[in-house]
Amino acid sequence: MPATVIIDLCFGDSGKGKCSHYLAPKFDAGVRFNGGDNAGHTIITDDNKKFITHLVPASLLLDKPSFISPGVLINPEVLSLELHKNDLDESLLTIDPNCPVITEQHLQKDLETGVKVGTTGRGIGPCMSDQVNRTGIRVRDYLKNGGILEGTVDNTGKKLRALLKQGKNILFEGAQGHFLDLWHGTYPYVTSSACTVGAVCTNAGIPPQEINRVIGVFKAYSTRVGNGPFRTEITTLLADQIREVGKEYGSTTGRPRRIGWLDLEMIREACQINGVTELIITKADIFSELCNRNLSNIINVAYRSLHNGQPKYQQFETWKDLYCKQFLKFISFVEDYLQVPIKHISSGPKTSDMIIV
Ligand code: IMP
Ligand code: MG
Repeated sequence: MPATVIIDLCFGDSGKGKCSHYLAPKFDAGVRFNGGDNAGHTIITDDNKKFITHLVPASLLLDKPSFISPGVLINPEVLSLELHKNDLDESLLTIDPNCPVITEQHLQKDLETGVKVGTTGRGIGPCMSDQVNRTGIRVRDYLKNGGILEGTVDNTGKKLRALLKQGKNILFEGAQGHFLDLWHGTYPYVTSSACTVGAVCTNAGIPPQEINRVIGVFKAYSTRVGNGPFRTEITTLLADQIREVGKEYGSTTGRPRRIGWLDLEMIREACQINGVTELIITKADIFSELCNRNLSNIINVAYRSLHNGQPKYQQFETWKDLYCKQFLKFISFVEDYLQVPIKHISSGPKTSDMIIV
């Protein structure tokens, strides 16, 4: 099981950070291969310590060799703060010299140009524009110009290929989500990098044959931060209730997330494009909470498009807990539809809140 990839199948914020932290002990190393500090991963340990990471893979929290490969945009200040705030061992972190560096000018420009899309304001689009224009500053130039960066700067692709050759297991942690992908997402309401499994090869520099496990993560409902199409969006009071119970506020920007029903047609497309081999469903426990508080006794799931593009819904009863028959009925519908097995069910915010199926 050399290279495993974990990706979000919708618009991000499905709990990939928690899932990566849960899986990390079984791996020898972890890698971030796309995005930048627009990502925000929330990790809550058993002793109730909360970590929010933006750039480093979860493996670093477990003191394992960790890598930031080309394709990840680095804001050196954010990286430094993240390492210090979380008391992480920078000697275990290798950063590729080809990573683009986000500058003050990129941040300024994003404030002007990112309004329409509703970006996170982290300079992602302008930094990627410079990279594509071949005018960007990369980590190697930044260091040559006297910049300071914590971590070791080295060729990450070479190191990763060597580890794979030794039979080591490596977890590649995706950022953002399939439908925020520059090519397959809801353009122009997307981020400026690739979020699909293919980015592991093009960015991290490992051959596709090494990837034999692709874990797709999705929530029992949908959320979206920023602008753009969201056909299952809920516009009633229930959206506010789900947001409150599910704590659906951006971990990078604090913005309230838009709430919608699970769109299985979209998730199926993401499974097919990314060759997903197994699934993790998260936040189904939010419906237990809504059910037990008598806030909602139904959940809708979009599973097909009508002629006008609007989704057709299947309705389910909500569940008191994740072991009752209502939940099992919902889960088997999802699995039948996606034709991919659900291997883990996240049952709460802490890393160990996980049911193995
Ligand atoms: P940018 O990546 O900051 O340029 O933002 C582009 C779009 O992607 C905006 O709608 C953001 O809200 C969204 N986005 C970027 N990163 C994330 C993420 O990690 N989770 C969820 N949405 C994100
Ligand atoms: Mg997030």
